[in-house]
Amino acid sequence: MATKKTVAVIGTGVIGASWAAFYLSRGFAVAAADVADGAEGRLRAWIDEYWPTLEELGLAEGASKDHLTFTASISEASCGADFVQENGPERLDLKRSILAEIESTAPAETIIASSSSGLLMSDAQDGMQHPGRLVLGHPFNPPHLIPLVEVLGGRQTAPENVDAAIAFYTSIGKKPIRINKEVPGHVANRLQAALWREMFHLVQEGVTSVADVDTAIQYGPGLRWAIMGPFLNCEAGGGSGGITHFLEHLGPAIRDWCRDLGDYPETDDYIPTMADGVRAELAGRDWQDVLAARDRLLLEILAAKRTAPEIP
Ligand SMILES: NC(=O)c1ccc[n+]([C@@H]2O[C@H](COP(=O)([O-])OP(=O)(O)OC[C@H]3O[C@@H](n4cnc5c(N)ncnc54)[C@H](O)[C@@H]3O)[C@@H](O)[C@H]2O)c1
Repeated sequence: MATKKTVAVIGTGVIGASWAAFYLSRGFAVAAADVADGAEGRLRAWIDEYWPTLEELGLAEGASKDHLTFTASISEASCGADFVQENGPERLDLKRSILAEIESTAPAETIIASSSSGLLMSDAQDGMQHPGRLVLGHPFNPPHLIPLVEVLGGRQTAPENVDAAIAFYTSIGKKPIRINKEVPGHVANRLQAALWREMFHLVQEGVTSVADVDTAIQYGPGLRWAIMGPFLNCEAGGGSGGITHFLEHLGPAIRDWCRDLGDYPETDDYIPTMADGVRAELAGRDWQDVLAARDRLLLEILAAKRTAPEIP
């Protein structure tokens, strides 16, 4: 899809607003729709807030905030759209009714990508006129900064539309991944869940503190993960024997550790312990200052990754 086309952004809350800013920065016209009172004002304010960062990252030729239109009508925003990014509430009944409104005017060949964090596209596409065009296009928050998009089709999705969505996201600088099977939580959040489970367990068992878990990841594996994924880190860990040697050498020990890992807590008793740990870690630091520092560093990391020799 060439630029200067229109992306309909349906639902302009946290995720939709960030997507809208991103698509504008990539030179698209954005036709946004949201039914909430005051949604247009909030959307424009969010885009104003994100724009300097997007300028710093580099705007596509002709990109402008002026290419945003807003309406409370989903069908009006979807009319003539070349691509639809759906970001309504995470409820199957609402997704289905939003999809029906999108389909009432969107051209039959237009791909509709849903940002849904956990709903199955196979469920959402039931009842659609053209279910073959629904794909998952699950971003990571905030989509205007984080490149990952998880792409997946439901039972009735035409495989070529999954391919086309991946090609589209790639063409606008995203890093899409293809998910071959519908599983709860998709892929990246399941990987995070494996870590969440164990970090709560380690803290609850008194093995270490909340702050030291954060230090362990931030200054250990987290630094490596931002550069090279965990599989390539296994390859690197095996020296000249690569991942095969790594797994032959350390696999038995890792298998033993895995037998000892904790389960996710069954009740909410763990939450105050974790919240107290986070407060202790922050030690009174202003949270907005911390977030601003995080965003600055994220921009620098993204810029460094763009100019560094490519790592797969
Ligand atoms: N927040 C996250 O971190 C995150 C990350 C990735 C994906 N997602 C997914 O993105 C989607 C949106 O999540 P969010 O966090 O932006 O939620 P949100 O509550 O901030 O935004 C939802 C928006 O949809 C609007 N809306 C409600 N009914 C509507 C309708 N009928 N037509 C049009 N708009 C309608 C609401 O007014 C609201 O602005 C969800 O599917 C969620 O799972 C969220």
